[in-house]
Amino acid sequence: MNTIISVENLCKKFTNRVRSPGIAGSIKSLFTARKEEIAAVDNINFSVKEGELIGYLGPNGAGKSTTIKMLTGILRPTSGRVLINGIDPAQDRRKVTKNIGVVFGQKTQLWWDLPVGESFNLLKAIYKIDNTDFKRRMELFNDLLHIGDFIQQQTRKLSLGQRMRADLAASLLHDPPVLFLDEPTIGLDILTRDTVRDFISKLNTTQKTTILLTTHDIVDIEMLATRLILLDRGKIQYDGNIEDFIGEYALTKILSLHLEAPRDTSWFQNAGYEVIQAEAGKHFEIKLKQEQSLAPLIDALSADGGRIAEIEVRKQDLGETLKQVYSGSRNVEL
Ligand SMILES: Nc1ncnc2c1ncn2[C@@H]1O[C@H](COP(=O)(O)OP(=O)(O)O)[C@@H](O)[C@H]1O
Ligand SMILES: [Mg+2]
Repeated sequence: MNTIISVENLCKKFTNRVRSPGIAGSIKSLFTARKEEIAAVDNINFSVKEGELIGYLGPNGAGKSTTIKMLTGILRPTSGRVLINGIDPAQDRRKVTKNIGVVFGQKTQLWWDLPVGESFNLLKAIYKIDNTDFKRRMELFNDLLHIGDFIQQQTRKLSLGQRMRADLAASLLHDPPVLFLDEPTIGLDILTRDTVRDFISKLNTTQKTTILLTTHDIVDIEMLATRLILLDRGKIQYDGNIEDFIGEYALTKILSLHLEAPRDTSWFQNAGYEVIQAEAGKHFEIKLKQEQSLAPLIDALSADGGRIAEIEVRKQDLGETLKQVYSGSRNVEL
């Protein structure tokens, strides 16, 4: 498979004015605003092969959107280089546009006051899409995203779910080989989320569209992504497949323990077992270190007359592992 996206030593710095704290500070800052430089994207390197679906993840402020803006030519890198299908978006934004689709969950790309159908007609003209192709794609989008339901509506009157479906269709009207999705499922209702997920998955498997997906939704990642790139404070922390990620970073395993009858198990804590959930003195979830043996627990339980009905040990899942990796550096939301 050929490389379709390549990112080399990519950096983006922003200069922000910072105020001194307090009222005196804000008055003072009128005259002497201090400038602070932040590296939103701090020398990252990765490449993507045709047909890959990548989860581009990281806590808020990690630099994900900034990366996508440089990949799509919206922002110019401070240094380093991006190539999409051999084209540098900073050199030739028009040419790169033909090769990419982009959807920002927070912001529509459609004309706010126009009916959705009119926006599509405009895009058809802009991308010079011929009638047959246009008709075929609109039918496909109608089948998969049901855009016919609201094609006459003005964009500003759409629900978030409808707007997202319209934006997805619009971004793909010109049949680009690469799609960037920046939080496409944020705030969606469950049904639309499923529709959007199915659509993304189909697009990747049947059309072989290369997709870079940013999301805070663990289910999105589990259902869609095969490879993770994890960004934190502008730097890549991990790049590889999901199983290897869990294998490498999941430092704990989770034991589910069900007893036949309730027992006094307050000694679990004292014996060094971290109980994360307990119910009715019978059902427990216990955190274990990767190398921690179950034997002392089971011995002590049976010595005490406790009988185990069911027991299961599993690795930390992706969500738990991501949380742990993020909060390893600071307190952050997933
Ligand atoms: N236009 C901008 N001007 C100044 N700072 C910015 C700008 N855009 C983003 N930043 C800063 O860059 C960092 C990364 O932002 P962003 O790429 O939006 O993160 P993410 O999408 O991962 O949440 C943040 O600290 C953010 O405040
Ligand atoms: Mg973002």
